[in-house]
Amino acid sequence: MFQTSIILSCILISIFLKNICLASLLLIDPKNPCRAYGNASVYDITDLVDTWPVALNGPGFGGKYIYWWSCAGNTGKCDDTDVAVCQQRADAPELQFNAGNVSPQLWYGLFNGPASKSNLTWDIVYPNHQANPSFIDGTGIRVTAVHFIVDSAIEKPILTVDGEEKYTEYSITVRGKCIGQPAINQTTFVQGYCDPKTGQVVPGPYINKIIKLFPKI
Ligand SMILES: *[C@@H]1O[C@H](CO)[C@@H](O)[C@H](O)[C@H]1NC(C)=O
Ligand SMILES: *[C@@H]1O[C@H](CO)[C@@H](O)[C@H](O)[C@H]1NC(C)=O
Ligand SMILES: *[C@@H]1O[C@H](CO)[C@@H](O)[C@H](O)[C@H]1NC(C)=O
Repeated sequence: MFQTSIILSCILISIFLKNICLASLLLIDPKNPCRAYGNASVYDITDLVDTWPVALNGPGFGGKYIYWWSCAGNTGKCDDTDVAVCQQRADAPELQFNAGNVSPQLWYGLFNGPASKSNLTWDIVYPNHQANPSFIDGTGIRVTAVHFIVDSAIEKPILTVDGEEKYTEYSITVRGKCIGQPAINQTTFVQGYCDPKTGQVVPGPYINKIIKLFPKI
């Protein structure tokens, strides 16, 4: 049963995430949905952009769209505060589609030792909340994957909509030197994450703090 569900989720997710089965689930911060933890490491995209939601223009089925992404929800679109990505038709703003929810989000990344890996990548998957199977208009089946690629050649984060895969699967890529990835200050050797706003390594919690954050584990 356990193996079956792992294989199933790998098949489903690998539709648009390459090598996802080589990554682990990260532990999302129960208080901040823009932050997740590995083994004594932290990923934090709270300050990836100046203000959330960020409006990203890109293609989609049947036309041009604006993708309103907010890692903590509250996009102000799609009539639902739990929406992470709201897809809006560029030529018909009243057409808005929930392209992924915050609360069922999954973060996939390197669990052990990510701060010492160069060109680190990780992914966030925002599925829709499940809907009544009688809906045939796309409700409940939309999903957005955000791919993060650390690239030392890119000073400021670049966010790109890759488009829509068949069917209702959206993809966004974030590239940059400092995009909230686990990092080490090379002078002090303090571990934390690279803050996109300042380019500084913000110290992460120690292991005993993580245990306090997740007291039931
Ligand atoms: C987390 O790191 C510790 C210390 O390096 C290690 O003993 C442990 O096996 C790691 N946990 C997992 C799930 O890999
Ligand atoms: C990492 O990214 C840099 C900048 O794009 C590139 O020059 C380098 O070859 C990459 N390194 C690896 C190991 O892929
Ligand atoms: C590393 O720490 C030193 C000393 O606190 C600080 O001056 C420097 O800006 C830090 N570098 C980064 C990349 O955070």
